[in-house]
Amino acid sequence: MRRKLAAGNWKMNGNGASLAEIETLARDHAEGGTDLVICPPATLISRAAAVAGPIDIGGQDCHMAASGAHTGDISASQLRDAGATAVILGHSERREAHEEDSAMIREKARAAHAEDLTTIICVGESLAQRDAQNTLDIIGAQLSLSVPDTATGHNTVIAYEPIWAIGTGKVPSMNEIGQVHDFIRSNLERRFGSGVGRSVRLLYGGSVKPGNAAEIFSVSNVDGALVGGASLKAADFSPIVAALDATT
Ligand code: 13P
Repeated sequence: MRRKLAAGNWKMNGNGASLAEIETLARDHAEGGTDLVICPPATLISRAAAVAGPIDIGGQDCHMAASGAHTGDISASQLRDAGATAVILGHSERREAHEEDSAMIREKARAAHAEDLTTIICVGESLAQRDAQNTLDIIGAQLSLSVPDTATGHNTVIAYEPIWAIGTGKVPSMNEIGQVHDFIRSNLERRFGSGVGRSVRLLYGGSVKPGNAAEIFSVSNVDGALVGGASLKAADFSPIVAALDATT
């Protein structure tokens, strides 16, 4: 049975005062069937890890190289050294603003796996791609190029984040989410075999809120969520975690 996972992506939000939110989450969710990971900005990782208790702390990106002349970048081993155990890779905001392609994301994931970081690899279609009925083709191509051969159920999580649902309050229908998650599951089973393919956790991301979480978590092959805006405050994230706990 796959453990449920609630992941928070703080993006470029938060400062030292925000650590209190992690302390609250750590206190309120010390027990429960759901794994939690919070990915704060890099500036907060080591301080977050110090107060996170049972919550895992993750980065939002890493470089594919182990070290070197890469001004402004952070390596997987530096994330580990700072206290992170996970990293988000290939978020659509990085694919777009930093021109990251799937081949780069695969190399980053390899580097992260070499440091035993859990990679949360993001895939998702634009609205134009959905309207043109290309969603499954896009997701299939992103999966085969972005996910390295080193993927296992332990070190890899896939987040399906339709770009048009991120920060917009728009959410696909439950049928649409189920269709994509079932597709991702069978794609992984075909490539990695049923053991690994069935053990990789699949998260839905894009406008997950306390009010829609339970419905989303009832969809087949949804093992949790990657949450942006509603992960910034413990008061918003806690009910999402509770909705996941209720499915276990
Ligand atoms: P929102 O939950 O704010 O829509 O963001 C989703 C996201 O991009 C998480 O990575």
